[in-house]
Amino acid sequence: MPTVRLASETDFQGWREAARALRSSQVAPEATLWTVDGAGGDLFGEAAPSPAAGAPAFTVPREFVELADRVILHRSDERFALLYRLLWRLGREPDLLRIHSDPDVQKAQGFAKAVGLAAHKMKAFVRFRLATDPEGGESYVAWFEPAHRVTEMTAPFFARRFATMNFSILTPDVCVHWDTQRLAVLPGADPADAPSEDSLEDYWRTYYASIFNPARLKVGAMQKEMPKRYWRNLPEARLIPELIARAEGRTDAMVSQAPSTPSRRVMRAAQRASRDASYDGEAVTTLEEVHAGVQMCRRCDLYRDATQGVSGEGPARARIMFVGEQPGDQEDLAGRPFVGPAGQMFDKALAAAGVPRDQAFVTNAVKHFKHELRGKRRIHKTPTTGEVTACRWWLEAERRIVRPRVIVALGGTAALSVFGKALAVSKLRQQALQLPDQAQGVVTYHPSYLLRLPDHEARARAYAQFVEDLKFAWSLAG
Ligand code: URA
Repeated sequence: MPTVRLASETDFQGWREAARALRSSQVAPEATLWTVDGAGGDLFGEAAPSPAAGAPAFTVPREFVELADRVILHRSDERFALLYRLLWRLGREPDLLRIHSDPDVQKAQGFAKAVGLAAHKMKAFVRFRLATDPEGGESYVAWFEPAHRVTEMTAPFFARRFATMNFSILTPDVCVHWDTQRLAVLPGADPADAPSEDSLEDYWRTYYASIFNPARLKVGAMQKEMPKRYWRNLPEARLIPELIARAEGRTDAMVSQAPSTPSRRVMRAAQRASRDASYDGEAVTTLEEVHAGVQMCRRCDLYRDATQGVSGEGPARARIMFVGEQPGDQEDLAGRPFVGPAGQMFDKALAAAGVPRDQAFVTNAVKHFKHELRGKRRIHKTPTTGEVTACRWWLEAERRIVRPRVIVALGGTAALSVFGKALAVSKLRQQALQLPDQAQGVVTYHPSYLLRLPDHEARARAYAQFVEDLKFAWSLAG
């Protein structure tokens, strides 16, 4: 029986050439054996024919080539023969690929779909760890076990995404290495070749725990999106059983944190302030009134879609005030500023700068969560200048009550609210800017900006600057 020996499990070029030769020589699919070099097979089989001289040329639909390009990455041993059978049949049934009920077509399309899904999961679940070589050079290494042979196919995605980072993705099939210029593909590796633990793991775990929302927990859906086969190599997966177990208690805690009812005097003051845009606000003299007023606020429409208003938090006589943009998904549920992923990043930077969070007043320019729904997810939307201006009233009340020595605007929206005009944050960092209420103003990045930077070096640089800015502001606060 003619035996085709391909150079590797994903040798599409080799398969194409062999299939072309076999079909030109009229070798039927059932009379052919496909194997990969080193994978055994029929030792006594004849070699497959070379393309028959003078055989009639044939063309195949582009759709088939695209399908075959995917199917060949499937782990099934059947894939080469299945593709050749389809190619053979296409000669007599040119519309074959449109017959979705045909068992061969169905199987090939199922393989292609599984390969697409495996590539998607690889993009989502590769986790890099920092590795240092003896000369002190740094690179990022990930160990990953893809469901199908999709490593080479997804490598260009990682090269684009982490263009300035040296990285290697090691898999049992092949390893890809990116040196910021070129992608190299080498033979497969062993899990022991990848570094096992480093501080990035803690970072991932902290991040995952902070974005985990117990009130939205759907165990089935979560396991469908993050199948168990990938858990082994995901640092955050270790947390999943515990987070699921704690979810009920955390949901109860969120509900019980709902604001308590303030006194009638407070309610009256807050009510006026929250509806009347021309109200001068002098009657709002305590943080309790601000809190109650924010819950009732109708100065713009953002209250409609938010769970609750989120006012500032911290000592009423704090020396330093930090102003963010607006509450995020988690802050909206918890009713407290900076408790989600940006809050975790903020806390880490505050600790690195030696600023005790419990001595700072932490608030936002806008007190309601502005978002849009994408499926079941609530995606942050930047507030407009009109919304920032309407809500500025509450920030001014907080400033008047707390009277901090230093006000730090975290990002552009906060700067707009604190200074009343748009400022170029990166140009004005590390400067003490005078504010009319005797306070000094400082501008720096928003922690979410750091989380969004895709490239590791840029993130590390911006994080270091952010810590410097926090130190600078804390030194101004005396
Ligand atoms: N981003 C902000 O600006 N504030 C928060 O409270 C949370 C995220």
